[in-house]
Amino acid sequence: MAYYQRRGEVPRQRHTQLRTPDGRLHYEELMGEEGFTSDSSLLYHRGLPSALVDARPWELPDQSTTPNEPLLPRHLRLPTLFGDGAGVDVVTGRRLVLGNDDVRISYAVAREPSPLYRNAVGDECVYLESGTATVETVFGPLTARAGDYVLLPRATTHRWLPGPEGVRAYCIEANSHVTPARRYLSKFGQLLEHAPFCERDLHGPGEAPVVEESDVEVYVKHRGSGPSGLAGSIHVVPHHPFDVVGWDGCLYPYTFNVEDFMPITGKVHQPPPVHQVFEGHNFVICNFVPRKVDYHPQSIPVPYYHSNVDSDEVMFYCGGDYEARKGSGIGQGSISLHPGGHSHGPQPGAYERSIGVEFFDELAVMVDTFRPLRLGEGGQAADDGRYAWSWNREA
Ligand SMILES: [Fe+2]
Repeated sequence: MAYYQRRGEVPRQRHTQLRTPDGRLHYEELMGEEGFTSDSSLLYHRGLPSALVDARPWELPDQSTTPNEPLLPRHLRLPTLFGDGAGVDVVTGRRLVLGNDDVRISYAVAREPSPLYRNAVGDECVYLESGTATVETVFGPLTARAGDYVLLPRATTHRWLPGPEGVRAYCIEANSHVTPARRYLSKFGQLLEHAPFCERDLHGPGEAPVVEESDVEVYVKHRGSGPSGLAGSIHVVPHHPFDVVGWDGCLYPYTFNVEDFMPITGKVHQPPPVHQVFEGHNFVICNFVPRKVDYHPQSIPVPYYHSNVDSDEVMFYCGGDYEARKGSGIGQGSISLHPGGHSHGPQPGAYERSIGVEFFDELAVMVDTFRPLRLGEGGQAADDGRYAWSWNREA
């Protein structure tokens, strides 16, 4: 993240001594991106952050993928993948829906606390479709609620503690960093006036007491020899990772709630880039929120038919009633996958019906990838098998 935050106790100058009242040194850890040339933070630990007493393999949830062949648009009904979330946690229980070499999309309906977890492959952006959770992190706890994007920088040790009603979590795992769209940022990293959100809408970690437990397991996802080039390990560390007495810097986890996105609307239909929130390497994240729509007297408010010749488009429908998809069977928790190489647009009848509509009550999170997506085991299991033919039917 771009702007400076500080929590707890840090020494007056960086790389100098910070001691406990009885004189014991704290251990300074720099957590930084791009080899000391990008954002970083300094954390002060009670114990040695590098200490390790044991390691063993962690068999990740199935990460294998199959190509989208023959090339088809698809409707994936994610709610069919889970029951009520009993016995499932957000980390070990997430099921892979779609993925490529840049990003993986998984889904979890979960009620259980997760183990301590560190994704060493890339940043995670977890959209909370429903529920509340505390996400405890090495920087302090995040409070998350429905509509929150939870941004967890690569290698941030954390764990998910769902509230009593459980959570429905849409997990976007990058192989890179995930940041606000760069065109929203000034040359020094401030969100510009034309951006649909600002720093005030981003919520960093709170403060939490130091945890003193010893011999703690941390589940690490990392690059390796398994499917999709990934592997898992369980590290046993002698000092609980949440032994941080203070930190400061510009790299930390945070939340942003979709309600705080101020949509940009126009006289005629506005293209998806106005709905952008975040971006990673070779993909973008946009959201479509409830909004007034086009005010040209001859406008057609739903999208024109379009070929995204450079991308696969993944829409996750997470609220309201998506105007352009009426008549397709798509509902809460559905995904539509519209692959590059195939034109898509509103379902039959929706184009005509939208004329004169002044407000769209819809909520969707979109991931556009610049390389083709493959289907994970969850994506295959949730495929309705009929969506590709839905433009042939009259609504
Ligand atoms: Fe589209």
